[in-house]
Order: sequence, then C-alpha cells, then structure tokens
Amino acid sequence: MIALRFIARDGTVHDSHAVEGTTLLAAAQAADQPLEGTCDGDMACATCHVLIDPEDFDRLPRASAAEEDMLDLAYATTRTSRLACQITLTAALDGLTVRMPPGH
Ligand code: FES
Repeated sequence: MIALRFIARDGTVHDSHAVEGTTLLAAAQAADQPLEGTCDGDMACATCHVLIDPEDFDRLPRASAAEEDMLDLAYATTRTSRLACQITLTAALDGLTVRMPPGH
C-alpha cells in the first residue's frame, strides 16, 4: 500500500492509502477529495489538477508534453502542479503529500 496525505484548501489533512498501480486521481477520489476527473484520464479537462508538495515533486516521473499543455489551461497552477490522472502510484511515491488547488 502507498501512503498518501491530502491537504484541503482549508488546511484539513486527510491521510489515506492506495494500492500500488492506482492513479493518484482514483486514490484521491476514493479518499473523498474534490477532484472531478471529468475526462477519465484522457488529458482533456484538467479537473484533476493537484499541487504536489515541493519536497515530493522530484520523486515523480516528469510530466509528458501533453500533460504540460493541459496544465497550461488549468487554473492557479504552480511549479509543482500535476494532473492526478497521469500519476500512477508506485512504491517510490510512498508518503506523497498532495494539496488541492484553489477552486476546489
Ligand atoms: Fe481530465 Fe485528468 S481527468 S485531465
């Protein structure tokens, strides 16, 4: 199991676990986080935009060019923005901290 920490806009912390191989979007939705994921991972909506904790960001595989293009259209992105649907959870991501961006 992969440990995850979700932090809401109001600072509420929600610790959760997900099975390896799950997407971060599915794990977040299972943990009742407010990510719509409208396009089901087709990189067509950016409603799965999350802010990765800066200390964890370099543990993630780099975003694809297509993901970067979609992030350009997302609201309130930062240097550590990612699309949760494009992140597959592996042991290397155990303990990831993920914040909900403004607008959620
Ligand atoms: Fe639509 Fe991630 S679910 S871009």
